[in-house]
Amino acid sequence: MRLLVCGAAGFIGSTFVELRVREHGDQVTVLDALTYAGREENLREVASEIRFVRGAIEDPVAVADALGAEAPEAIVNFAAETHVDRSIADPFAFSVTNGQGTHVLLEAARERGLRYVQVSTDEVYGSIETGSFTESSPLAPSSPYSATKTGADLLVCSYFHTYGLEAMVCRGSNNYGPRQYPEKLIPLMILNALAGDLLPVYGDGRNVRNWLYVEDFGRGIGHVLEHGTPGETYNCGGPDERENLEVVKRILELCDADESLIEYVTDRPGHDRRYSLSADKLEALGWRARTRFAEGLAQTVDWYRENRWWWEPIRSGAYREYYERHYGRSLKA
Ligand code: NAD
Ligand code: TYD
Repeated sequence: MRLLVCGAAGFIGSTFVELRVREHGDQVTVLDALTYAGREENLREVASEIRFVRGAIEDPVAVADALGAEAPEAIVNFAAETHVDRSIADPFAFSVTNGQGTHVLLEAARERGLRYVQVSTDEVYGSIETGSFTESSPLAPSSPYSATKTGADLLVCSYFHTYGLEAMVCRGSNNYGPRQYPEKLIPLMILNALAGDLLPVYGDGRNVRNWLYVEDFGRGIGHVLEHGTPGETYNCGGPDERENLEVVKRILELCDADESLIEYVTDRPGHDRRYSLSADKLEALGWRARTRFAEGLAQTVDWYRENRWWWEPIRSGAYREYYERHYGRSLKA
């Protein structure tokens, strides 16, 4: 397929592009603003096979430039501000990228009659104590991040209902794997454990997340792109749920570090207790998660151990300032 993939210099989008180029021979243009979370190095394995355009999805001129004269058949949108803690501290960038940016892409898809996949999150459903969310569960986002993602999902649905746009939404549970920016739980804890920094656990550490290996999400999104029905939403839930504390303790073991590094810190405001997503609908369409959490976590720790080139520049740069501001302590060198 000929694809415009937005936000593919980040964690999940870069994995998706690698999979599509290698496994499907897709012709890909990437549009990415290269915010703090985006790096061209994330696409280095496929750099010679794709076209890269630097630009923001909320900029119609950049979007038209990326679509070029020979319009692709579909747009897949990963571009977003993605970190809940940043959305609490500084929410406006989230409305612009997640809301307005999605809207600009939808207009571009409508004008050209393109298929459209919006990459979304289980966080749009809010927290659930028992059981799992399905696609018909009510939307009840709790953070500015999830609220702006929810708004974007609703706009996508409106473009299907109003204009007949061939649009679908694919909602993933918490992803983990190589190249995830270390503001998120798993890479943050791995890098701190390797460096001997304290591991900041929010609240009582008993919040539960539903973990999905990044390649499984990438393939799930590809599956929706190829086989999804326009106007439908598909949940892509991971095969395993874990309490945060269990994840952190396993990371410490895998990094040969001691549990005394765990530090309980003030909880995140409005912290969702548990996420859980049923993947029945996407499984009925033929998708299956291939990687269980135990195996995926060990692979992820190995990747961070072996790829210091990837994270050393992050950990010595603006991320240090973010960390000090957010956690009120500095990282070791
Ligand atoms: P990320 O933060 O690693 O990457 C985001 C990418 O978007 C970066 O390359 C960044 O430069 C780019 N970007 C940001 N603002 C932009 C703008 N205005 N214009 C163009 N590009 C812009 O994110 P990720 O973890 O790879 O998440 C990708 C998508 O998947 C997001 O839509 C997110 O909501 C969704 N999602 C993430 C998870 C998860 O666990 N990380 C789970 C489910 C869904
Ligand atoms: P995060 O990776 O931010 O993903 P999300 O909040 O979008 O699910 O956080 C995952 C879980 O880990 C969440 O319950 C918050 C918790 N957490 C910590 O305990 N300490 C941390 O430093 C971070 C970043 C997250």
